[in-house]
Amino acid sequence: MGLSKSFLVFFSVLTLAPFCLCYPAGSSRGGYLYPQFYDHSCPKAQEIVRSVVANAVARDARTAASLLRLHFHDCFVKGCDASLLLDSGNGIVSEKLSNPNRNSARGFEVIDEIKSALEQQCPQTVSCADILALAARDSTVLDGGPSWEVPLGRRDSRGASLSGSNNDIPAPNNTLPTIVTKFKRQGLDLVDLVALSGSHTIGLSRCTSFRQRLYNQTGNGLADSTLEASFAAQLRQRCPRSGGDNNLFPLDLATPTRFDNLYFRNIVAGKGLLNSDQVLFTRSAATMELVRLYAENNALFLEQFAKSMVKMGNISPLTGSRGEIRKNCRRLN
Ligand code: HEM
Ligand SMILES: *[C@@H]1O[C@H](CO)[C@@H](O)[C@H](O)[C@H]1NC(C)=O
Ligand SMILES: *[C@@H]1O[C@H](CO)[C@@H](O)[C@H](O)[C@H]1NC(C)=O
Repeated sequence: MGLSKSFLVFFSVLTLAPFCLCYPAGSSRGGYLYPQFYDHSCPKAQEIVRSVVANAVARDARTAASLLRLHFHDCFVKGCDASLLLDSGNGIVSEKLSNPNRNSARGFEVIDEIKSALEQQCPQTVSCADILALAARDSTVLDGGPSWEVPLGRRDSRGASLSGSNNDIPAPNNTLPTIVTKFKRQGLDLVDLVALSGSHTIGLSRCTSFRQRLYNQTGNGLADSTLEASFAAQLRQRCPRSGGDNNLFPLDLATPTRFDNLYFRNIVAGKGLLNSDQVLFTRSAATMELVRLYAENNALFLEQFAKSMVKMGNISPLTGSRGEIRKNCRRLN
């Protein structure tokens, strides 16, 4: 009796072991994500994602930033469920049409390329939501940022939410309290907000996303006083009062394709590009302290960034038998 009981305990510890190395899945809906999810069902999955991402970034350096952003825009709308990737049609109104995504979100062809490579290797096994999470990590690493183990096992949504995309993703001219609230709603705190904003150490922004700061920040016809004057003058040259909406500017003017903490140093110098970047330094003592900390300590920023990415990746995943594994990331099965 005693023997078989301890055997049973031993046996169940063994069988459960892989599931105990996992991270809790941010919601009470049950189901866990863990890095070894595809180890048996598709052992080459991570290698395939990494190699397609590496080729795409070699062709176009901006792609690293664009893929990182896609995971964020996916996770903030109904959780990390690839709802962002669905095209319009068959009852779906695509999130690609929302204010934050329209003429802005990019990298969808790279996700298609990864998906078709994975479908050849292991049909209907690797979710589009997991592809987004892996591609975000691989992109960060390619630009010299930190690496982390990506918890896996997300499944893909059977719907999209245009209104969620418009309302739940923060806008660049949202106030700091609004941005904080939008992060809190996802279970992300001030530390996550500041660290994840550090993504703006890479990638580009359109003129239209920050023009208001250059000309009429508060409706009195003046530029944002927290924007360093010579930097503002430089930006006005290629971001006129009207026209040039889609002219592109690096979010981190210092090192636009290098994943480092210079984004935070820019902010301390009044050279954050977006209003949402600069307010982290000017509108709250708590976030200001964090900006200073990361500006002074790159290693600390990179470490916290990795932790916060795992946390963001755990927002309400679909697990178990919920959702589906799409064959094509743009369409329901
Ligand atoms: C804190 C609230 C945030 C706001 C208001 C915000 C807003 C923006 C805006 C307006 C752009 C430029 C888009 C354009 O003009 O086309 C942008 C770009 C970008 N964002 Fe954010 N963002 C936020 C947080 C994040 C987070 C959490 C991540 C990732 C974890 C992220 C990653 C990026 C990247 C990498 C780009 C460059 C994309 C590219 O070059 O294609 N952002 N963001
Ligand atoms: C923020 O920007 C949007 C889009 O340009 C604009 O419609 C809105 O009025 C702005 N909000 C504020 C508070 O300035
Ligand atoms: C600035 O914005 C305010 C309020 O939106 C508007 O009434 C005013 O005409 C604008 N001023 C300039 C110089 O564009």
